[in-house]
Amino acid sequence: MVAQFSFSEPSYSALHRSPRHKKLMIIACAIGFFLFLSLFHARYPSQSPSESKIETDTTHCPALANELDNKRLIKGKSWIVVTTINDPTDAMDLLCNLKDWNVVVVADTKSPKEWTCGSCVYLSVEDQKCLSYGIVDVIPYRAYTRKNIGYLWAIQQGATRVFDTDDDNLPTGNDIIFESPTGGVVGYRSDETTGKSVNIYSHFGRPDIWPRGFPLEEIDVRRPVTYIPESESLPVKAKELLAPPMMIQQGLADLDPDVDAIFRLTQVQELKKAKFCKKSPSIRLAPGTFCPFNSQNTLFSYDALWGLVLPITVSFRVCDIWRGYWVQRLLWDINGSLGFTKPTVDQIRNAHNYLDDYKDELQIYEQTSKFIDFLSNWQSTSSRLEVRIVDLMEAMAARDFIGEKDVDLAKRWVEDLKNVNYVFPKVTAYDPEAVTASLGQISDEDSQKPRLLSNEALRQCKLDAASDESMSRITITEDRRTEL
Ligand SMILES: *[C@@H]1O[C@H](CO)[C@@H](O)[C@H](O)[C@H]1NC(C)=O
Repeated sequence: MVAQFSFSEPSYSALHRSPRHKKLMIIACAIGFFLFLSLFHARYPSQSPSESKIETDTTHCPALANELDNKRLIKGKSWIVVTTINDPTDAMDLLCNLKDWNVVVVADTKSPKEWTCGSCVYLSVEDQKCLSYGIVDVIPYRAYTRKNIGYLWAIQQGATRVFDTDDDNLPTGNDIIFESPTGGVVGYRSDETTGKSVNIYSHFGRPDIWPRGFPLEEIDVRRPVTYIPESESLPVKAKELLAPPMMIQQGLADLDPDVDAIFRLTQVQELKKAKFCKKSPSIRLAPGTFCPFNSQNTLFSYDALWGLVLPITVSFRVCDIWRGYWVQRLLWDINGSLGFTKPTVDQIRNAHNYLDDYKDELQIYEQTSKFIDFLSNWQSTSSRLEVRIVDLMEAMAARDFIGEKDVDLAKRWVEDLKNVNYVFPKVTAYDPEAVTASLGQISDEDSQKPRLLSNEALRQCKLDAASDESMSRITITEDRRTEL
């Protein structure tokens, strides 16, 4: 007994008794830490409010001064941005209490005057005017797009990632993370010449539901896609072309997912109880392939923060979808991709009038296909993303996808971003023909693995139907070439 005890003793004390070893360890750690800091610093330059070129007039805005002094703010560099006209909802309670996330809530004229929830920053309309952002002067009141001010606030505070969501999306986990896209990438087969949209809900087992913003003409057209594995087996060149790093992640929503008014008016039996397969692996879209994404449960990495701005000349039900489309196009120019992940929120939707939603969505129904075609063919020669952003807005306005005021907004947004020291990612080469050719070279064998993985997940979810009736609606595509 005693011998055994004394045997283990030296190894324990050895660690603590060798001061030289300890010193060396400390020095090594310090060097490592400073190296890490300098790398981190180069990528995310410090952006404390005092350093940015935007003056904040806190003398006339005591409430804002209070917010800025509030030390509770310091919870890392992750920000959640929400706009609300309601008192704190259950979802807000959850969001405000996430451990590593700061929350900024953007008020509108109809919002409650007093609004407190955990350590949230509440930007009242008066506070917003004190921020002297160029965009503040052009953003309308009683508009969802007031959220733009919150995005800029988050970036000004040095956000390295932003979670874009609404006050009726209840997170089901206790953190928000970029899921590793183990399901690979999906893209069009080279023999497809028309249509560039995938209904990503199919991948999660529900081809019968389509996301708001999905082109109506495509709902019943299941297109063959190529599943591209994440694996090493892929040639380096193909991987570079087809699988750029994920910069934006859209999480799905269970119960009341974001569907259009046509769906809500006609598929009444599905409302409030739709569920997707949570076992389906996360997936990314290859450049050239589109799927709408919204402003609820959407995570933006630092390199995609420029893409947060919501257009102001389209309706509430169009603005986030339009943003999602033009941002997808520009992601391809910066070696980035859009990913989708299993439901990570339950949406308990605020009450809406479906016919009003329908009217609000008319532009989506009428223009989405044209918009996608336009974006697919759009090219820019500028070597700077900030120039391309404005170029694209101008081209979109020239074709009436947005109004002229959004061109002005885009210019102001880019200026504001520069003023808060945001570093735009570099433009890389995007060659649609090379992407198509590379897709054509993915063998059926390579495509098979991620497809089987996806189908296996769906089969597992279907097995759950005994305990969860909603899972019985999960559909598996068994075709040799998967269709989404
Ligand atoms: C895109 O990003 C990946 C991962 O960082 C990198 O390996 C690749 O070389 C990049 N491609 C281009 C064209 O910059």
